[in-house]
Amino acid sequence: MKVLIIYDLLFGNTEKIARAMGNALGFQKDIEVLRVSRVKPEQLMGLELLIVGAPTQGGRPTQAIQDFLEKVPESAVKGTNVAAFDTRFSV
Ligand SMILES: Cc1cc2nc3c(=O)[nH]c(=O)nc-3n(C[C@H](O)[C@H](O)[C@H](O)COP(=O)(O)O)c2cc1C
Repeated sequence: MKVLIIYDLLFGNTEKIARAMGNALGFQKDIEVLRVSRVKPEQLMGLELLIVGAPTQGGRPTQAIQDFLEKVPESAVKGTNVAAFDTRFSV
């Protein structure tokens, strides 16, 4: 199964969660964990699972994650399972 986990970070919490997910899915064949700024459009092709994680800043994902999500072509992720997560202040 081809899996891509994309994250952004300011301090590192979101990267830690992304990498833990990558390790937990480690029995799968093909897993990449990448910071959003390093993702190339072609890396979205042929995925079975895409996971996107963002730090919460001002009640929203970081600008880099918002920009990335706005630019993802629908055709690139058609048929791809997608999940999202965030990290935030604890309450
Ligand atoms: C500028 C800034 C704005 C934030 N805004 C929110 C917020 O609106 N809600 C929230 O729950 N946490 C907020 N946080 C806390 C972060 O989402 C939280 O610390 C997160 O785990 C940081 O992830 P990172 O270590 O990957 O950067 C904010 C943090 C910063 C630095």
